[in-house]
Amino acid sequence: MSTAETRDYSGLAKLFHWLMAAIIVVAWLVGYYGGAMLHYGVSDQETAEKIWAITLHKSIATTTLFLIVGRLIWRAYRRPPALVDMPPIMKHLTHLGHAALYLLMIAVPLSGWANSSSAGYSIPVAGLFTIPGLGPKNPELTPYLVSAHWFLSWALAITVLGHFLFALKHHFLDKDSTLRSMMPSRSA
Ligand code: HEM
Repeated sequence: MSTAETRDYSGLAKLFHWLMAAIIVVAWLVGYYGGAMLHYGVSDQETAEKIWAITLHKSIATTTLFLIVGRLIWRAYRRPPALVDMPPIMKHLTHLGHAALYLLMIAVPLSGWANSSSAGYSIPVAGLFTIPGLGPKNPELTPYLVSAHWFLSWALAITVLGHFLFALKHHFLDKDSTLRSMMPSRSA
């Protein structure tokens, strides 16, 4: 096996990576639009639009709950390639960043699921079926869970942005194979 091949992620790992990246970006933008731009009770039109946007948001975002399980199982079965050569401190920071991404990819949809459950709303998945609430309806908890979801979704956005900028740094400044190893190719 050549060095280029050993540095490549498997085809399924790439599929999970890019599919989840696309879903997270779209879910984030639709969630932001529904959560921050529209407000219940301001006007009938805004309330209807908010319900529509948040329903769409949930339907898209809940798919990540299933994808992350598949992704972690696949990652345990097929270990990712070793990092490119870099100082030990950068390796530690890279592993820390990846761990933060995984934790947030679990915590963000779970906190959204919890806030919808506490409010007693339905939780659609890809417009195909619904999943049950995480616990009994408890509207007193909803504002806290909405705040937790808001905070975690911003933490995810900042971590994803950092991840993206580091990928660009590897590609354009360090000129190494990091970004290419996650790109679609025949060697997967
Ligand atoms: C990839 C996963 C997810 C991302 C990136 C994400 C992101 C966001 C963002 C950015 C907001 C706007 C927050 C604000 O400004 O108020 C939001 C709101 C919301 N999200 Fe999510 N979310 C995700 C998963 C979920 C899931 C799985 C559910 C429910 C099953 C959910 C339910 C909600 C609800 C109900 C709101 C509106 C909160 C409000 O009343 O303002 N989210 N989400």
